[in-house]
Amino acid sequence: MDIKSATFVGSAADYKKCPETPLPEYAFIGRSNVGKSSLINMLTNRNGLAKTSSTPGKTQVINHFMINNQWYLVDLPGYGWAKVGQAQREKFNLMIREYIQKRPNLQCVFVLVDSRHEPQKIDVEFIEWLGNAQIPFAIIFTKADKQTKTRTLANVATYNKQLKKTWAELPQEFITSSDERTGRDEVLGYIENLRLQ
Ligand code: GTP
Ligand code: MG
Repeated sequence: MDIKSATFVGSAADYKKCPETPLPEYAFIGRSNVGKSSLINMLTNRNGLAKTSSTPGKTQVINHFMINNQWYLVDLPGYGWAKVGQAQREKFNLMIREYIQKRPNLQCVFVLVDSRHEPQKIDVEFIEWLGNAQIPFAIIFTKADKQTKTRTLANVATYNKQLKKTWAELPQEFITSSDERTGRDEVLGYIENLRLQ
């Protein structure tokens, strides 16, 4: 899919302040620092479109980016970063969960997990919550450039073992590297298919 245009539309502190639109949107969620904002820049070919940082907790509100004047990518704050403090953590948690449950044009949530790590409790619980809330989702394993392909595939297999404890069917999965620009066609192709359904 060609990304002909990608523009920042606005930031919202809660779902009620998000743009009013019938156009479909696709959101990125996951632990702080997992690479959500970097992935948006990689997918859109625009460095600096979404703000990134090596320090967790960079994205603090719901950010909408309009793509090709037809659909939106949405960058969300990360969950589960201990250093932001209990009150801030709960605020982000509520912001994210309300947005996911109440945004009518949200088509799919991409849950990002770091491909280097074993399944983390907080991610597994979040994925279970999405399932219980009947929200369509896919999983993206990020930062694949940080290790060998063999290691990444072994970690994905471990992850799937964990998921199979709860799920009869595995969700759609992608392996990406924003640094090496891999997994781009697959994620964009998936969005395109959803959009044309
Ligand atoms: P919050 O907004 O804090 O929730 O973080 P985020 O999930 O948006 O992460 P962000 O995109 O800001 O990236 C965090 C750090 O990881 C930055 O230093 C990025 O350069 C780095 N990073 C992100 N994706 C990749 C990747 O694919 N490979 C490598 N090597 N580094 C990455
Ligand atoms: Mg971010």
